[in-house]
Amino acid sequence: MTQDELKKAVAQAAVEHILPLLEEDTIVGIGTGSTANLFIDELAKHKHLFDGTVASSEASAERLKGHGIPVYDLNSVPGMRVYIDGADESNHHLHLIKGGGAALTREKIVAACAEEFVCIADESKLVNVLGDFPLPVEVIPMARSYVARELVKLGGDPVYREGVVTDNGNHILDVYNLEILDAVKLESQINAIVGVVTNGLFAARSADVLLLGTQEGVKTLKA
Ligand code: 5RP
Repeated sequence: MTQDELKKAVAQAAVEHILPLLEEDTIVGIGTGSTANLFIDELAKHKHLFDGTVASSEASAERLKGHGIPVYDLNSVPGMRVYIDGADESNHHLHLIKGGGAALTREKIVAACAEEFVCIADESKLVNVLGDFPLPVEVIPMARSYVARELVKLGGDPVYREGVVTDNGNHILDVYNLEILDAVKLESQINAIVGVVTNGLFAARSADVLLLGTQEGVKTLKA
């Protein structure tokens, strides 16, 4: 199977996973990226079964609306039963690196509000040690150079993602050459730098379930 076929298989498995949760008042949290897009397309087949969604990006909101699926402001819902999203990397603790699509802050907020976080990914995303994928950090634009200098002190090589402005109007630094052995600690250290909005480590709130598309079928990993 190709990588795209593996992503489609996990998108279908994610819909199967959440079908028992879908009731007329269920709100589903929706992530961002190519795997999340495939999930949205699969979920659309069951849109009559649940109330609506909260989206983690303008792009996902547009795709959902295109399918006729209601998209609510996060402030207008009491919470979410489940959040489904992709990842750039996952370790075996289901600590993630996210933000390849620059949506990390909204993704982290929506994930925080969900009872269950289901991550969907193809097998190339599972690693022993996080950090081969450069860690995205969303920064307030005027703080970009200061934050970059602080990230160098933490051992990383930050690179400005030129031309990218997040849905929140901010910039992204991609931090190369980090060998992330303590993801919870590094997440907290980077978030403590003045000017950082958030970083793409999802470790304090990791995924609860990882549906991993492999050549042997979709595997379910739990934290
Ligand atoms: C976007 C993300 C995505 O979940 C991540 O980049 C994975 O994307 P894809 O499913 O396209 O591989 O964090 O900010």
